[in-house]
Amino acid sequence: MNALVTGGAGYIGSHTSLALLRQDMDLVVVDNFSNSHPEALARVKALSGKDFPFYEGDVCDATLLDRIFSENAIDCVIHFAGLKSVGESVAQPLRYYENNLISTLRLLQAMGAHQVKRMIFSSSATVYRSDSPMPVDESAPLGCLNPYGWTKFMCEQILRDAAVADPKLSVVLLRYFNPIGADSSGQIGEDPDDIPNNLMPYVAQTALGIHKHVNVFGDNYNTPDGTGVRDYIHVSDLADGHVAAIAYAMEHTGSEAFNLGTGVGYSVLDIISAFEKANRVKVPYVIGPRRRGDADAVYSNPDKARRLLGWQAKKTLTDMCRDTWSWQQKNPHGYRTGS
Ligand code: NAD
Ligand code: WQD
Repeated sequence: MNALVTGGAGYIGSHTSLALLRQDMDLVVVDNFSNSHPEALARVKALSGKDFPFYEGDVCDATLLDRIFSENAIDCVIHFAGLKSVGESVAQPLRYYENNLISTLRLLQAMGAHQVKRMIFSSSATVYRSDSPMPVDESAPLGCLNPYGWTKFMCEQILRDAAVADPKLSVVLLRYFNPIGADSSGQIGEDPDDIPNNLMPYVAQTALGIHKHVNVFGDNYNTPDGTGVRDYIHVSDLADGHVAAIAYAMEHTGSEAFNLGTGVGYSVLDIISAFEKANRVKVPYVIGPRRRGDADAVYSNPDKARRLLGWQAKKTLTDMCRDTWSWQQKNPHGYRTGS
């Protein structure tokens, strides 16, 4: 099995590349480092003890894709490459639509030209309508609140249509909930290049003293302690979900969407106190106003992935907090540490 991993230097792509190599699969990575660092790939190679071909470039570049598919016998594409910041997508919608849609279209066109029939796509829980009853399952109505979300919604539709048109195509749409954590080695992890927008990297940087306190965005939500509830999933469990998705794509055609979550919701205050307890550190916080567009609670019904992929998340919130802290302590400035 030889997988083309687009965006393989990124947070989820690097952990999935490592999981694939540990399963003795072959891979080829393409990334333009628009939101990542070459050091991530060096560490994936070191951790796995394996090498793989790498192409630096843009997945929207049809000539590059033709070269990659000509030079490698690809069985399956795992498409992580994409821009993912919600706020940035509101400010720069055209850049988001261009990058996320054109990359997906070019990949499908190159796959068609080279007879590659399997695609695993990084979708998101953000495609579900914000008023969906929780836990949300894959049959819930879709609808988004920002351009980033719409790019995922539109790519899903493009992929579903492509699978209707080509009955040999297999498309797996993976809707991730909130990935956090890091490989247990602490060698690879999430490396935001600015002040983090997401909760967990902000908590870890605060524990390290980079920020004075965590700003808790609102404590008057309709949740048990008033702070927002999310379905946090360890990135290594998420990576294993891709290994299971490849096995599924080998056996099935058509398109299918799966939630990748734990099914359990934790509040912002749960996360802060779990992080303090797991790592014996203090995480000061201040309750502030709500962040625009945030929902009260978002958590998955993960039964479909358990039934059809034979996958379920195994790691605990303590594992997620401990592994995040190990990565943060070893790499206080991410992959730029020491360079
Ligand atoms: P990331 O930014 O760490 O990784 C994305 C990678 O793709 C980066 O290495 C970036 O350099 C690369 N890239 C972007 N556009 C490219 C292009 N046109 N050509 C080549 N490389 C390109 O993000 P991540 O957290 O690893 O997310 C991976 C995927 O999962 C994304 O599609 C994201 O939208 C989706 N997703 C992420 C989350 C999350 O919370 N992290 C949740 C749901 C879905
Ligand atoms: C989690 C909770 C915040 C930061 C985002 C995207 C989503 C998906 C994953 C890609 C919320 C609260 C946060 C902080 C806080 N990405 N919070 N203080 O918003 O669930 O999802 O990332 O598909 O599309 O929207 O994740 O980590 O930003 O927030 O209180 O400094 O933490 O209000 O309740 P979110 P998050």
